Amino acid sequence: MRQVSEPWWKSAVVYQVYPRSFADSDGDGIGDLGGVLARLDYLHALGVDVLWLSPIYPSPQHDNGYDISDYTAVDPVFGSLEQLDELIAALHARGMRLVMDLVVNHTSDEHPWFVESRSGPDSPKRDWYWWRPPRPGMRPGDPGAEPTNWRSFFSGPAWQLDEASGEYYLHLFSHRQPDLNWENPEVRQAVYTMMRWWLDRGVDGFRMDVINLISKDPALPDGHVTGSGMLGDGSPYYVCGPRIHEFLAEMHAEVMAEREQVLLTVGEMPGVTVEEAVLFTDPARHEVDMVFQFEHVQIDQGDTKWDVHPLRLRELKASLNRWQLGLAERGWNSLYWNNHDQPRVVSRFGDDGRYRVESATLLGTVLHLHRGTPYVYQGEELGMTNTSFTSIEDFRDIESLNHYAHEVAAGTPPDAVLAGLRTMSRDNARTPMQWDDTEHAGFTTGTPWIPVNANYTEVNAAAALADPHSVLHHYRRLIELRHTEPAVAFGDFRMLLADDDRIYAFTRRYEGTELLVVANFSAEDAEAPVPDAAAWAASELVLGNYPDAGGGPPSDPDAAGLTLRPWEARVYRRPA
Ligand code: NOJ
Repeated sequence: MRQVSEPWWKSAVVYQVYPRSFADSDGDGIGDLGGVLARLDYLHALGVDVLWLSPIYPSPQHDNGYDISDYTAVDPVFGSLEQLDELIAALHARGMRLVMDLVVNHTSDEHPWFVESRSGPDSPKRDWYWWRPPRPGMRPGDPGAEPTNWRSFFSGPAWQLDEASGEYYLHLFSHRQPDLNWENPEVRQAVYTMMRWWLDRGVDGFRMDVINLISKDPALPDGHVTGSGMLGDGSPYYVCGPRIHEFLAEMHAEVMAEREQVLLTVGEMPGVTVEEAVLFTDPARHEVDMVFQFEHVQIDQGDTKWDVHPLRLRELKASLNRWQLGLAERGWNSLYWNNHDQPRVVSRFGDDGRYRVESATLLGTVLHLHRGTPYVYQGEELGMTNTSFTSIEDFRDIESLNHYAHEVAAGTPPDAVLAGLRTMSRDNARTPMQWDDTEHAGFTTGTPWIPVNANYTEVNAAAALADPHSVLHHYRRLIELRHTEPAVAFGDFRMLLADDDRIYAFTRRYEGTELLVVANFSAEDAEAPVPDAAAWAASELVLGNYPDAGGGPPSDPDAAGLTLRPWEARVYRRPA
């Protein structure tokens, strides 16, 4: 039996907790570990196997904890190390596991390593970060004097001038997040020591933040100029840079290799290609178990993430199919629609109005039936939607605020900038988890750090638990199906109807069982003309997202095969 020797995470489902927005136990308006501990039974009942915890380390919180100032402690705003130990024990007692966020492309500028590095060019830690003099012939601070023309992910140049030394340091994200210099072996050893410290404490793996950006081309060439102005795209020189595979293999050997635990490692990798992902996740290469790729969550974007168009289903299918095929023989996919950086999928690829429940359950069904390890982001299992922002004051996220400031300063009308932010801002994902219909959705007894979505009286966990047809119960069934039907975890993937604009259809086949997944991405009835449709329609219906979707004949008696109602999804099973 093939699955006996497979790692546990191939049939697991991961749930991401963004602690700041999950549950607040002390009334300060910010979620915390006490809140997570209080909600573990909810997660256990959902059936998820792993909790991925976004950063809880001490941090000035300029990027909500992705700017870490101490790697081996817990920020008091989130609780204490004792509570983290308690969380590990409580998860393990329920047969669940904990994956920590590992943010080592950069630190906070308040991390003692950077404070020391910044103390002057002779600092023993100067070379732990990327320090460079101004461009030859220019003075510090001159326009365009930055060592390269790279644009930061959070707007503006990726270099910050340090007035005291007249040198610049590199920050691919905020200037409060200086990039570590992985060329320096001391940096790498310090990171590995820290990782071992967490594993010794009992954590079961790491989600590695932008880990494919850690190797930069030391020549630091200028990038191709994009947009208006002088800034360019430096990504060819830091996305999957020259030593990335060497660094990840070294990390694996130093940290993971000798452990008895079977850990889960997932590398967040913006810009990664299928070909690179195969190398990263080939088990024989011992780098990481799976990667988060970005292609499918950029499919509705133009030149920038703020320039969005409606989803074209064929493009989504073509993209996910390439990833399924590309990692079929070697490597492994992660599967996700949502996380703390993405707008809510039901608002983005579904219908968050009339068909909110149907489209949220359809999206869950399609994703979870692919081959790979699915990730559920808090609230996705409730069909939580994007929120409504009226003015720039409603936003909290550094990326959104910086983008607004830069664009407005450059002369773009504020309303036009706001339109992009409303759809794409990361704050859409960060509104508090909606637990019940009491004030602030039961998230806090205080004032939430970001307002609760106004639809919490209808969309909340208490209501979902009480309704057998809720999005929540559908997700529970999807997770259970992955645990009980080996074809979901291990089956081959075959895309059908690649050119159909409304129907998403595919089969999964494994050891004598075949599954068919059909889903109607539209608000009208649509026929799914899959091969053998009539026979499939008469086969066992394992799961559907309409309450009355029995396994009987098609709803349209004249249809030759399968006719699906608005946003209907079905999973059929038959012997292969
Ligand atoms: C990716 C994280 O998911 C995001 O939230 C963060 O802002 C950047 N990396 C920088 O750490």
